[in-house]
Amino acid sequence: MAASSFADRLNEQIAYEFAASQQYVAVAVHYDAETLPRLAAFFYRQAVEERNHAMMMVQYLLDAGDQPRIPGVEAPRTEFADVVEPVALALDQERRVSGQIGALAQAARDAGDYAGEQFMQWFIKEQVEEVSSMSALLAVAERLRDKPMDIEEYLAREAVVQEAIDPTAPPAAGGAL
Ligand SMILES: [Fe+2]
Ligand SMILES: [Fe+2]
Repeated sequence: MAASSFADRLNEQIAYEFAASQQYVAVAVHYDAETLPRLAAFFYRQAVEERNHAMMMVQYLLDAGDQPRIPGVEAPRTEFADVVEPVALALDQERRVSGQIGALAQAARDAGDYAGEQFMQWFIKEQVEEVSSMSALLAVAERLRDKPMDIEEYLAREAVVQEAIDPTAPPAAGGAL
């Protein structure tokens, strides 16, 4: 059945979002242990966002009458050579997810699943923002790789423009954190 194949793929995506969340927790803890609290805070917050993405997908499946399957996730990477490597890993991850989200929107469209296609629109916009902010952070981290305190300074300044609650975000199962 066409519609359930979109549901199956969305279920797979739940695993990728939880895995992204775990990876960002691992990156945050790494920076925290290095006494880089702004970098840690940035990734702790990203971890919560990824968790919320997973729970939005869970809620969508519940609403659509499909049984969400909560997955186990692979262990994240926890060892990093320098201050730049985790950000480069994060950007790779965001680019990969952008491809996955695009493929999901395509699968919904191919199945004639308009509700599914509409659901994916918010994630498409979200990925544009996440790739953009991670690209900016990578550029800064590469420029300042020998001065991590200056990266901290940058994040302290940029934190002022932290995103407010997005009223267009899909509801998350149990409520967004
Ligand atoms: Fe995500
Ligand atoms: Fe993300």
